[in-house]
Amino acid sequence: MPDGKLHWDQTYEAKGDHVSWFQENPGRSFEMIRALAPARSTGIIDVGAGASRLVDALVAEGYFDLTLLDISEVALARTRARLGASARGINFIAADITHWAPTRSWDLWHDRAVFHFLTTPSAQKAYIRALRQGTKPGAIIILATFALSGPETCSGLPVQRYSPETLAARLGPDFALETASEETHQTPFGTTQDFTYAGFRRRSVA
Ligand SMILES: C[S@@+](CC[C@H](N)C(=O)[O-])C[C@H]1O[C@@H](n2cnc3c(N)ncnc32)[C@H](O)[C@@H]1O
Repeated sequence: MPDGKLHWDQTYEAKGDHVSWFQENPGRSFEMIRALAPARSTGIIDVGAGASRLVDALVAEGYFDLTLLDISEVALARTRARLGASARGINFIAADITHWAPTRSWDLWHDRAVFHFLTTPSAQKAYIRALRQGTKPGAIIILATFALSGPETCSGLPVQRYSPETLAARLGPDFALETASEETHQTPFGTTQDFTYAGFRRRSVA
């Protein structure tokens, strides 16, 4: 995705929060994180965080080891400005996940609506390489993608839709599916989008 950064920067500059994926309350992600990783010291990365309010909820809940990664510096800057003093201590990373080499590992990897933009095996493999490098056995991975009944595009780009089982197959046997659900997201435009949410645990090596 060579022009990916430009696309996403222009989208956030032109539309701000008036985007189909906007959630005032990212409740499903937040509840999954609380259920799967209740310790407030959990190291959490939100991959493709955009301008999501998830970080606000996590900060309010007392989680303090937080990293936000996004290809769009505009989105990250919006989040930093919104958080104000609460942004202190949060690690912001502007990077394309398919060309990024993590330098630490996280206990919990969260991604809502980013992996599904990777529609080629090479991009998906690059993402999973970063996921492996950025986690250890025992880590929790929460992925939310468009469901099989969801839209075929988002932000004008094609997406790959998943069920929990096809997501598990794509991640491979080192990631055990622990929990899954569907959510019908109400967009700010009065339309709906079906999402798959899946929680995995990275298996220990035998
Ligand atoms: C549909 S939005 C979802 C944003 C956020 N997760 C949420 O739920 O509100 C997709 C996000 O992924 C980011 N993104 C797209 N491709 C990316 C890539 N290759 N690497 C990192 N971030 C990417 C975009 O900038 C955008 O913020």
